[in-house]
Amino acid sequence: MKDDVGRLLLDRFRIYHGLVDRDLRVRFRNPAFFAYIGRDPVKGWTDLLDLFPEVVGLEKEIGLVIEGTRSDYSVVSVNRDSSEEIFFNLYFIRNSNADGTCLIVVRDLTKELLYRQVLQQNKNEIEILQHRLIEKNEDLDMTNRALIKSRDEMEELNRSLEKKVHERTRQLEESTMLSQRLFMQTVKSLMYALEQRDAYTSGHQQRVSNLACAIARELGLDDFTLEGVMVAGNLHDIGKIYVPSEFLTKPGKLSDEEFSVIRTHPRVGFEILKDIEFPWPVASYVLQHHELLDGSGYPYGLEGDEISFETRILTVADVVEAMATSRPYQTSPGLDYALDEIRRYSGIKYDSKVVETCIRLFKTGAFSWAPLY
Ligand SMILES: [Fe+2]
Ligand SMILES: [Fe+2]
Repeated sequence: MKDDVGRLLLDRFRIYHGLVDRDLRVRFRNPAFFAYIGRDPVKGWTDLLDLFPEVVGLEKEIGLVIEGTRSDYSVVSVNRDSSEEIFFNLYFIRNSNADGTCLIVVRDLTKELLYRQVLQQNKNEIEILQHRLIEKNEDLDMTNRALIKSRDEMEELNRSLEKKVHERTRQLEESTMLSQRLFMQTVKSLMYALEQRDAYTSGHQQRVSNLACAIARELGLDDFTLEGVMVAGNLHDIGKIYVPSEFLTKPGKLSDEEFSVIRTHPRVGFEILKDIEFPWPVASYVLQHHELLDGSGYPYGLEGDEISFETRILTVADVVEAMATSRPYQTSPGLDYALDEIRRYSGIKYDSKVVETCIRLFKTGAFSWAPLY
């Protein structure tokens, strides 16, 4: 039974116990104790001070416990470096039998202390990790703050750029609109310069331009090309500014000489316009507007594909307008005659697609000029 208690104490609490007598001799029954303190096992009594040199000088206190004057005496945290380092507490406890002995109890703290050391180490490591974590968090906070700051700066920069782009776009739009207005004003001024001088051409260019644009639109030409046709129509006879007005307004047949002067107007028009940077070859359209597909036109007698498609449209519009519209000094043959004329020469002098489209526009009523007078 006693051995069972000893085993239990040993297993559960790492405790060895023995007896100490008046002569300070000690006896441990459990051989495991001697193994624990790294000594050869001793059966029976042996010298206490030899077995526990740590209690040298404490004999008096131990004696008091053996006498029963004192209930107990402890020597704690004994560290012994035998084969392995061990730690233990020593307790001397009064024996209730009063037989001149006291109990000696050795409590092995080695594992406990090692556990504590490991725990302390772990605790230290955890603290280090916690510290690092705090530092990392602070770093992250700083990075976050820097990111937020740079994001704010980027947003501000974006806003300022957008504002600048917006402002610049507005300025460009204004300047583009101004250029367009200036351009159209220039075209009109050129047109009026001729028309104010000469009643014959008054309104003629504008009306040719209107009809040519209607034909070009019907043929599916794009807006840009259409605008070029419109501008060229408005300026096609600008070269007549150099033709004496009496030649232009002369009723009846012109002399060969007079006619040869009039025939200079495409070339003169080209000279006037060739240095103006139009986005379309306006000067070239003007130069070609009296050329005919069969080569019977002037000034160069160009044929077929040598004449641009835009010019062929202008030519048909020019011929129809000139024949269809009466002037103060001259009665015209009329629109029907004009349409018969272009039909007769369709595919010969005039482009057949343009002729067909022009006739259709008038016959269906899709196009008509505003009254001239
Ligand atoms: Fe002309
Ligand atoms: Fe004309």
